[in-house]
Amino acid sequence: MPATAATDEQSRLPRHVAIIMDGNGRWAEQRGKFRVSGHKAGVKSVRAAVSFGYRLGLEALTLFAFSSENWRRPQDEVSALMSLFIAVLGSEVRKLHRNNIRLRIIGDRSAFAPHLQRKIDDAERLTANNTGLTLNIAANYGGRWDITQAARALAERVADGSLSPADIDEAALHQQIQLSDLPAVDLLIRTGGEQRISNFLLWQLAYAELYFTPVLWPDFGEEAFSDAIAAFVGRERRFGCTGAQIRELLEHKAGADNE
Ligand code: IPE
Ligand code: IPE
Ligand code: MG
Repeated sequence: MPATAATDEQSRLPRHVAIIMDGNGRWAEQRGKFRVSGHKAGVKSVRAAVSFGYRLGLEALTLFAFSSENWRRPQDEVSALMSLFIAVLGSEVRKLHRNNIRLRIIGDRSAFAPHLQRKIDDAERLTANNTGLTLNIAANYGGRWDITQAARALAERVADGSLSPADIDEAALHQQIQLSDLPAVDLLIRTGGEQRISNFLLWQLAYAELYFTPVLWPDFGEEAFSDAIAAFVGRERRFGCTGAQIRELLEHKAGADNE
């Protein structure tokens, strides 16, 4: 049977997408509202992105929710973000579980309040054996922190005699880096128009395609996500493919899944 355009495109789809969800504050300010209402509006985009990634058949979706530098924001914004994080964990985990999604939180969780740490542990434990999409939420995450904790883990093994310094190579360090058990990040999307990494995944982005869009995170829906995927497919294959074609592919997949 000849390969159709749809199956051809499908083989070029990313397996792992990471997103820097930026622009919530500006979205709110443009509407004359407090920044926190932009963060609240961003939750809807998180749901839409997870649903889209799931239907697209991604193996992993990694979302930057709170950076190790975001503690520098005004205290009331940090508190509001923490409360939102706790509320969303509480309200969404069961739904994720029902959809066979495995949830992981990456970052230095020791800075979080004990009850939040417990909620994170419970959510990870509940969903640990799910085999659908792996959803990684980066919270108090920094790319430099990640590489540092990996170096420390190797140093501890050298200290206890189970590893020789001569055996420290890229593969050994890689094993200690967050997400090392998942496919490499194929595509990084940053919303909100800035063109920088902001200390997100550093090691993991070595070969990722980078895609920057001016769309603010609360406005980032299925259409904007499919445009990003289309850009990725186009770059990889060196021919233009439109967002509409990616949406068509999704419909095609949904039809095939229901057969
Ligand atoms: C991203 O939106 C969300 C977090 C960093 C938590 P911002 O809050 O950075 O929004 P802008 O960049 O100020 O518009
Ligand atoms: C990056 O956005 C962090 C998250 C999206 C969680 P920021 O808005 O904090 O990054 P900078 O300050 O523009 O580099
Ligand atoms: Mg920002």
